[in-house]
Amino acid sequence: MNVTRSLRQFFTQRWHQSRRFRVGSWLVLTVLSALLVVIPVVLSQQPVTLRLLMLAPDIPPYKVLVKAFEAQNPGIRIQLDEGPNSANTNEDLYTTSFLLGNSPYDLINMDVVWTPKFAAAGWLLDLTDQVSAQDLAGFSPQAVESGRYEGRLYRMPVRSDAGVLYYRKDLIANAGLQPPKTLDDIMSISKTLQDKKAARWGYLWQGRQYEGLVTMFVEVLKGFGGFWIDPQSLDVGLDRPEAVRAAEFLRQTIAQGISPPGVTTYVEEDTRRIFQAGDAVFLRNWPYAWELVNKDDSRIKGKVGIMPMVPAPGQPVGGSCLGGWGVGIAKTTRHPQEALKAVKFLTSQAPQKAYILESGYVPSRRNLFNDPEIVAKYSHYPQLLKIVDQAVLRPSIAQYAQASDILQRYLSAALTNQQAPEQAMKDAAGETRRLLAAGRKR
Ligand code: GLC
Repeated sequence: MNVTRSLRQFFTQRWHQSRRFRVGSWLVLTVLSALLVVIPVVLSQQPVTLRLLMLAPDIPPYKVLVKAFEAQNPGIRIQLDEGPNSANTNEDLYTTSFLLGNSPYDLINMDVVWTPKFAAAGWLLDLTDQVSAQDLAGFSPQAVESGRYEGRLYRMPVRSDAGVLYYRKDLIANAGLQPPKTLDDIMSISKTLQDKKAARWGYLWQGRQYEGLVTMFVEVLKGFGGFWIDPQSLDVGLDRPEAVRAAEFLRQTIAQGISPPGVTTYVEEDTRRIFQAGDAVFLRNWPYAWELVNKDDSRIKGKVGIMPMVPAPGQPVGGSCLGGWGVGIAKTTRHPQEALKAVKFLTSQAPQKAYILESGYVPSRRNLFNDPEIVAKYSHYPQLLKIVDQAVLRPSIAQYAQASDILQRYLSAALTNQQAPEQAMKDAAGETRRLLAAGRKR
């Protein structure tokens, strides 16, 4: 109280005694009030930045989408942060950021298998009431479904994906052979061409212990007539003979020198580079590789064929794993309105078309598969639509990341000869059943 009184006395005295003090005080007051008005206006005109993390190689084509969005929305920027080049390491980074709280991400670039875990953990905004049934009708149904959890929508599809087989048309035709119909054909054609020194390696696939190993494996597994986890009954098929045969087939590709020993450390881009250097006959990969292997500076431009994955002899169809990426909104974002605007734009028709044309990715909007401009550039798209429609889904369960981790570990042990395939698959099945049983109890 004394301090206030002394201050008041000081100001009243100075006010009456000094003209300079009066003028100075008015000046200070005027400047302060101006700042109070100006600062909020300036702040409100600063662009809002929405951050999202994605695999580094996926960034260049995404910039087409971002540029178009920013041109239409001058007040909003999208910042793409470079993540490591594997789906599950990106998932780990998002997960850590949400667990620690204060996540810097507003938008989430989500793989097709992340929704149940992220939604169950409460990290995502519910988009159900923001998107109409009519908006969703244009997308492939599985792409939409993979964005739902317990009936609510949390992720919108940006692109789809499906595993395919690339082969060297030129080498196969020059040797008077036909493209493969079965996994055994892949082995025998590879051997013939390797013996002729037409190519160093036969078959490239993704064998590192990561999510890509699982996607590649479910394709071979389906090709042998097996399955991993039935999402309805939660039955586990990993210790059945078909699964053991599938693991054994992959081990044999290495043992017989068809696949390089290093294949157990490769991700998609490692295999694509070796294939593009002209060093292999077959490559299992996603459709993104088409655009790259046919670039002007590619050694194999125009020499590559693309086809659905082939099954084991006697099986009706080969498996193609459904992949794909979409976008969700972090519950912790400070800019939900702007983030929603971005989600709607990124998934809308015209930007999607430009994005697909640029990237060669698989569309999630169905009409783009037969769009004349797209088919003129990518003639295999109508066939891709069939592959996507029949693709094998990874099980949509909240414990997906753990189930995948179990499969990755045991498969990797079998492929690197640390465990016999039969034992590895038996252990994987047991651990998966315990995981699912624990989940049921919860
Ligand atoms: C691709 C697929 C994705 C999958 C990943 C595995 O990016 O689109 O669904 O999980 O490959 O490496």
